[in-house]
Amino acid sequence: HFNKEIPGGLRQLPGPTPLPIIGNLLELGSKPYLSLTEMSKRFGDVFQIQIGMRPVVVLSGNETVRQALIKQGDDFSGRPDLYSFQFINDGKSLAFSTDQAGVWRARRKLAYSALRSFSSLEGSNAEYSCMLEEHICKETEHLVKEIEKVMKTEGKFDPYRYIVVSVANVICGMCFGRRYDHHDQELVGLVNLSEDFVQVTGSGNPADFIPALRYLPSKAMKKFVEINNRFQCFVQKIVNEHYATYDKDNIRDITDSLIDHCEDRKLDENSNIQMSDEKVVGIVNDLFGAGFDTISTALSWAVGYLVAYPDIEKRLFEEIKENIGLNRNPTISDRSNLPLTEAFILEIFRHSSFLPFTIPHCTTRDTSLNGYYIPKDTCVFINQWQINHDPKLWQDPSSFNPDRFLSEDGSEVNRLDGEKVMVFGLGKRRCIGEVIARNEVFLFLAIMIQKLCFEEMPGEPLDLTPEYGLTMKHKRCNVRASLRLKDGC
Ligand code: HEM
Repeated sequence: HFNKEIPGGLRQLPGPTPLPIIGNLLELGSKPYLSLTEMSKRFGDVFQIQIGMRPVVVLSGNETVRQALIKQGDDFSGRPDLYSFQFINDGKSLAFSTDQAGVWRARRKLAYSALRSFSSLEGSNAEYSCMLEEHICKETEHLVKEIEKVMKTEGKFDPYRYIVVSVANVICGMCFGRRYDHHDQELVGLVNLSEDFVQVTGSGNPADFIPALRYLPSKAMKKFVEINNRFQCFVQKIVNEHYATYDKDNIRDITDSLIDHCEDRKLDENSNIQMSDEKVVGIVNDLFGAGFDTISTALSWAVGYLVAYPDIEKRLFEEIKENIGLNRNPTISDRSNLPLTEAFILEIFRHSSFLPFTIPHCTTRDTSLNGYYIPKDTCVFINQWQINHDPKLWQDPSSFNPDRFLSEDGSEVNRLDGEKVMVFGLGKRRCIGEVIARNEVFLFLAIMIQKLCFEEMPGEPLDLTPEYGLTMKHKRCNVRASLRLKDGC
């Protein structure tokens, strides 16, 4: 890698000097999004660090990341073969595996079309514009009841614990055609373990880069393997039930539609991409995992910010009261009429940057960026946090201020500013759940704000410091909530 000759006219990547064996591990520290943002100030938008013996290119800056992921999209669209990724979805994950371009593209297309058709399917009655809306409305109804119940018995609750079950039920509805009770031990146990998953999959996990570390006993790694197995078993059981009851004339959900695709393919002699049935049906595992962890993390940050900024919470409630009233549920089509709510969500994405790096990328061929040479098979980190906090793009980036996205009279969201917020990645690997995610975060939040008023627990101050991982969560906390009456709490 290092010894490869640099083609004429291109420069060698800048970066900090690595130590033997550990490379720049110490400088990376426990909050790599901060340390790598600091380094980008010294070395620029494209620089190289070494983790263990392995070189990693770190990209920052809106323009540079757009150039790499969009204009040179194919060059940067691979995934590196990281140690921890082989445990995810039995090594067959769509998002994390090193599938060759043809196979990955075919799977991504399948995942995208299954997701789109089962979220936009007609609802069971005219009250709902689509299945996604129906699932969310029904789940928020359960959620509000559960919160009311726990407030009566305990007087406080951990918002993540409740939100994650509701969000998981929305994606379960689309993937598996079923929902779980808020006290179902199997589901509640599973979805409350995602902290242990995201800790290991965060960019820069030392065991991914330093082979010797894999042989030391590690609690985090052991838990990680266990969670992946549990997750796999949970999904496999449901998939088996689907195979047993599959009827090609009645495709009930995403799992059925993936099974159906396998059956169709067997009849199609011209199909040229070779994929096992497991790789096709295993897509549902990725959709379920990505579909609950990200959105529940976003909503749990939303509750955190509501509690930390009661004035903003009040303004959000007023906006909903004025535009929708209190007699009907908000719907997805209300999104364009609630600019403050939209701005609040954008500011949560930007300020928390709870997905600080995309999933790591990898170059698929020798390439260059901003005049620097980057060889094939180089691991690449995309620092989304840096873009969302870059003082060149944002005034006073560290303050939480939804108004930064609004026009002066507050009646409109500035689209161009909204597009600068980077949480879904860009280009070929861009999140396939983005449209659903934006609608889902909006609708959950709008309904919660309409029905509930969240407040800090006296004596239990919130700690909104993010804990590093693939998705960053704030520490678990307790808040209280009361049902909204006409004019406030
Ligand atoms: C990939 C963000 C919700 C499915 C990603 C990536 C990011 C991301 C940053 C990696 C992009 C890259 O590697 O460059 C988010 C955020 C969400 C969200 C912030 C919610 C607020 C969802 C949902 C689904 C989903 C709801 C599906 C139900 C996926 C899949 C990939 C992905 C399958 C892998 C794509 C690939 O490797 O080709 N997402 N996501 N995501 N996301 Fe999401």
